Amino acid sequence: MTREELIGSFYEIYGKNGGAPVTVFSPGRVNLIGEHTDYNGGHVFPAALTIGTYFAARKRADREVRFYSGNFPKKGIVSRSLDELEFDPEKGFSNYLMGMIWAYEKRYGFRVTEGIDVYLWGNIPNASGLSSSASVEVGMGKVLNELFGFDVPNLEIALTGQYSENRYNGVNCGIMDQFAIAMGKKDRAMFLDTATLDFEYVPVALEGMKIVISCTNKKRGLADSKYNERRSECETALKELQTVKDVRALGELTSEEFEAIKDAIGDPVRMRRARHAVYENERTVKAVKLLFEGDVEGFGKLMNASHVSLRDDYEVTGMELDTLAEESWKIEGVLGARMTGAGFGGCAVAIVKDEAVDEYIEKVGAAYEKKIGYPASFYVVEIGDGTDVF
Ligand code: GLA
Repeated sequence: MTREELIGSFYEIYGKNGGAPVTVFSPGRVNLIGEHTDYNGGHVFPAALTIGTYFAARKRADREVRFYSGNFPKKGIVSRSLDELEFDPEKGFSNYLMGMIWAYEKRYGFRVTEGIDVYLWGNIPNASGLSSSASVEVGMGKVLNELFGFDVPNLEIALTGQYSENRYNGVNCGIMDQFAIAMGKKDRAMFLDTATLDFEYVPVALEGMKIVISCTNKKRGLADSKYNERRSECETALKELQTVKDVRALGELTSEEFEAIKDAIGDPVRMRRARHAVYENERTVKAVKLLFEGDVEGFGKLMNASHVSLRDDYEVTGMELDTLAEESWKIEGVLGARMTGAGFGGCAVAIVKDEAVDEYIEKVGAAYEKKIGYPASFYVVEIGDGTDVF
């Protein structure tokens, strides 16, 4: 979408009266490895994508905040008021946007004093696990900055996005998605230590290869509650380990340390959850090192191992994501494939040699449809910049 098209769509909904809107682009993200480690004080390795959410927004003279999504035209304009900032279960996606207004006030005391007309349109596949909600949160933060001169830096916008998702929308997510979206850089992934927020940009120079995302198209249903359940399983496991070792997060443990004390966890399911968090963190550190050394093949093998651990120990994959990953592994030109994001549906990510991309999409697509009964969608993606004025 061009800026002119975006502004044109804004005018179609809200009219030209009131002047030109500010425009912002906020990407989606893919996580290459390091899944369900971010709320366990471990490492992640995500990247921002060139697909994402486009915003056009302009102040109003009253205290109405109006949202229109070009993706859901049937919903029409969703109206909210600055005098009723609370979460409204009837108002769907607008809660991610209102949550930012609420959080700006809670975290910084920044008050939005005038209403806003917001038009948004996104090309992140719906419910794909490529973080359309975090994209919308961080984008809205940038919009508030631009309209009201708040000047909150992108890293803080990310933290505010997480804060609003946790406390306003009730999903206990970690920082990975908002961070990747706010801080992304073209052709770089971010190696982030979620315990300290120390990070490093790592060039993802995949010569002769593409990043291909395959989307299950599965409705995600109970994903948020299952996500919160995994998080609390890890928290309980950590408390049990703390009875025998002074440790602040599962991500602090090496696999050897974990093996030595794991019997303190009084339940086999919780033990497997914790084992995933510890081993996945270790795998991520190792994978990034291999990538630095130019060993994409080694990196890909660890992607595969990550999926197996998410399937068997963390149990967040399901038949759809397993089919995508397992069918991917059968194709010769695939260096690695795994689910990405929270799981329970959503997407898988694969590194595929250029010459195998067509065959990959055809074969994995056919096998998926045969087994699951409806088609998957495929996207050859590129790594782009973080949220910014557009
Ligand atoms: C979701 C959350 C992230 C992270 C991933 C799993 O995307 O928003 O914080 O926990 O799941 O790695």
